Amino acid sequence: MPRAKIKGIGTSIPEKILSNYDLEKMVDTSNQWIVERTGIHQRRIVEPGTTTSDLATEATKNVLASTGTAATDVDLIVCATITPDMILPATACLVQDRIGAKHCWGFDLSIACSGFLYALQVGAQFIETGAHKNVIVLGVDVMSSIIDYTDRQTCIIFGDGGGAALLTPCQEDEEGGIIDFIHEVDGSGGQYLCLPGGGSKYPANHETVDGKMHYIHQEGKVVFKYATRKMPELCLKLLQRNGYTSDDVSLFVPHQANLRIISAAADRMNMPMERVLVNIDEYGNTTAGTLPLALDTALRKGRLKKGDLVLFAVVGAGLSAGAMLMRWA
Ligand code: UT7
Repeated sequence: MPRAKIKGIGTSIPEKILSNYDLEKMVDTSNQWIVERTGIHQRRIVEPGTTTSDLATEATKNVLASTGTAATDVDLIVCATITPDMILPATACLVQDRIGAKHCWGFDLSIACSGFLYALQVGAQFIETGAHKNVIVLGVDVMSSIIDYTDRQTCIIFGDGGGAALLTPCQEDEEGGIIDFIHEVDGSGGQYLCLPGGGSKYPANHETVDGKMHYIHQEGKVVFKYATRKMPELCLKLLQRNGYTSDDVSLFVPHQANLRIISAAADRMNMPMERVLVNIDEYGNTTAGTLPLALDTALRKGRLKKGDLVLFAVVGAGLSAGAMLMRWA
């Protein structure tokens, strides 16, 4: 079975910056508190009217152009998002049409911050079985569409943006690609990070709107504890069962939820911060967007080269978590 590798990354980053100082004028917070408690300095926010499919289409066009891949050669689009343009049709279908991918199927995958890594694993299965040669995996969110900008617990964390990865099979003589993964959910913690309104439980009506049920609600501390426990636990288990230790990892690419979560996880894994990719200061938490944005940062800064062992970790609503090991090819 061929291994699946990431052939390229394309991103879509909104131009508009929402800084901590802007937020100081909107809620009772301070730049100092946000930087000290989260590591975030600014986040990007779309202009009103810009949708997830706009960002996803741009990111996909970028990765197709940079890898010299024709849209008509794309077999599958898996779009990880919790902010689709609409409940239906799926955002993947909107992207398919807008890029002119004529021989392709696709669907959306909804598991919040764990979305991109779960979608990567789903896409990889189709490469490994030989069913497909070119799979687009998207992690994109317009979080500003579901954030209550009077709630200082959530509005300081999230930002908009994301990216697309092109998955292709490794060549026979090529060493690399996705090695292994561990993903895990714990639905008993679902209430700690949720958006209750607009589904079949609480269909949209005046009460759900007045009750702010169409915004993200979070028990930050509970999620924080789950994240700092689960990320290192899954990563260490994954490394161990593949015969590696943290010392073998060239780059650790964690979900960017909070710099304190990232540092605590790295610490528990004995991973020096020089080998950890951090860009939360620039973009905040873009939910499904953080990993493609992190990979783009790593590539632009020359921190990823062929042969590197890369470890990914995610955590988020569900509650959900995951880890993946990849040899960069
Ligand atoms: O990616 C999806 C998963 N989500 C996460 O991973 C988020 C995980 N959680 C977190 O990142 C953190 O829990 C938060 C950043 C959300 C909050 O940080 P914290 O250190 O857990 O703060 P806290 O909720 O314990 O609040 C500490 C204090 C409280 O004041 P008192 O009661 O000590 O007087 C809060 O009212 O800080 C206050 N506070 C704030 N102050 C200024 C809470 N939010 C703010 C704020 N600005 N934005």
